[in-house]
Parts: sequence; C-alpha cells; structure tokens
Amino acid sequence: MIILGGTNAQLLAKSVARKKKAKYLPLQVNKFPDGETKLRVPAVVKGKDVVIITSMYPNPDNAMIELIFAIKTAKRLGAKKVTIVAPYLAYMRQDKEFHSGECISARVMGELLSVADRVFAIDPHLHRIKKLKDVFKTNAKAITADPVLANYIKKTHKNAILIGPDWESSQWAAEIAKSIGLKSVILKKKRYTPTKVRIQITGDKSVFKGRDVVIVDDIISTGNTMIEPIKQLKKIGAKNITCIGVHGIFVKNALPRLRKLGVKVITTNTIPNKVSKIDVASVIAKVL
Ligand code: R5P
Repeated sequence: MIILGGTNAQLLAKSVARKKKAKYLPLQVNKFPDGETKLRVPAVVKGKDVVIITSMYPNPDNAMIELIFAIKTAKRLGAKKVTIVAPYLAYMRQDKEFHSGECISARVMGELLSVADRVFAIDPHLHRIKKLKDVFKTNAKAITADPVLANYIKKTHKNAILIGPDWESSQWAAEIAKSIGLKSVILKKKRYTPTKVRIQITGDKSVFKGRDVVIVDDIISTGNTMIEPIKQLKKIGAKNITCIGVHGIFVKNALPRLRKLGVKVITTNTIPNKVSKIDVASVIAKVL
C-alpha cells in the first residue's frame, strides 16, 4: 500500500501511513500561472494499492480537481486499486434542488469522484440522501469519528449532558452518549438561510441547571447552530459548555464568536484548524 497525502490532509495522511506501516508521499500539487492545477504522483504506483487522503476544505473546488487528477493519474500509471479517503467530504449539504435550476452538487460530486475504486468519508453530511453509496457509482462507505469523540468525552466530561442541536445530530450526540452511559437531549432546529437558524430547547430546561453540557454536531460552519443553544443554556444556568464538531469549517469569525461566549471548542482533525485536537487517524487506518 502507498499512501499519498493531498494538500489539505498531509499530516493526517502521514499519521495514517505510520499506523498502516505503509509508504507515505505527499502529492505534488502546484498552480500554473493561469491558475490551472498542476499535479504529479511522486511514486511508482504500478501494481500498487494506492490510497489518496485529502480533505475537501479549505478550497473545496480545488480539492475536487486535485482528487480527480490524482485518481486518474494513479490509474494511468498502473495502480492496482485506487482508494480515496476524504476525511471531510464537501458538497454533501446541497443534496436537493432547493430552488429551481440549482445543481444537486452532492450527486455531481459523487459521480465525478467515482473514477476511484473505493471511497471512504468521515461522517459525511447524510440527510435527505441516506447512504454514501447513493451518490457514488463506485464502492463508497461512510465511517464515523464517534469512537474517538466518545473517548475524548469520556476522559474529559464524566457527568455531562450531551446535546444534539438538531435531529440529524442525534447520530453523534445520542449515539455517543449511549456508548459512554451519559444522558443526551436532542433540540429542534429550523433553518431560514445558510446563516440564520432558530433552535428550540423543548422539554424540562431545569435539567441543564448547574450541569456540564457538551454540544455535538457534525459540522461547525458559521457557528450559529452552536451559538443559539449556547445563549439559551447560559440563561438557564448550565455550568461549563463545550462545543464539539467532527468537521471544524469555521467560516469567517465563527471561532472567535464562539470563544467570546466563554465556551470550549474542539474538533477532530478532518479539517486542520486551531482547535482540531481529536485525532481520526485510527478511524481511517482501521478501514484501510
Ligand atoms: C447541518 O444541518 C449540519 O448538521 C450543521 O448543523 C450545520 O452545517 C452547522 O452550520 P452552522 O455552523 O453554519 O450553523
């Protein structure tokens, strides 16, 4: 097996290679003066099991071209099998035509990346599309960071209540809580625009008074899905609030906005950022 690290996941890819005792090389990716992507597979891959690991954030469009170029090149050079691992798989949220004429980006992205023989993605945003293999025309599987998140929460929050800010997040909040014997509460979210959400804490609010709470979601993007419940939980009297995201996108000033509220923020390293401290290398190594 040879592991090739793409622009957005070189440290993670190297760490996976160490765990697999596989050869690691970074993909060589540059730009031509006109902005086109120039890519080189820097290894002899003929007859090899090639794994390309790269996240699709930042610069999701560049990352997609990089993946397509890398897969096609490895195949042309005679690789036996080409697997891609997208720790963060972009475009999954545009999973329907919300307004007439819009591109269903999730499906197009899936078709384009199906030039690979196998695809793995960590906690892709599966909402209206239920399974990753519904967007790919190749062998595709979602893997979850739940075990490493559970491990982190177990070590740091012995008696917290886990909160999922919307029903989709129960696959992280409720599942993790169950696995480590904690209580979880799932909130109700209504999204008006990409930046405007309303979140409702239903049920008995007094359960949060004086308690440590951990809000768990797949993506922290503008941060608003976290900020809304944080404000309410502070009013109710929650003690310490921690926000955990699998994928920390943190657009614009999302991270300072969250920190200003006095909460701890931590994510996995599917997207490298200032708080990406929970390592998913073991989760990836396990499926390869
Ligand atoms: C969408 O439903 C996702 O699960 C996240 O809740 C969402 O992407 C978070 O976005 P934001 O941080 O912009 O509120």
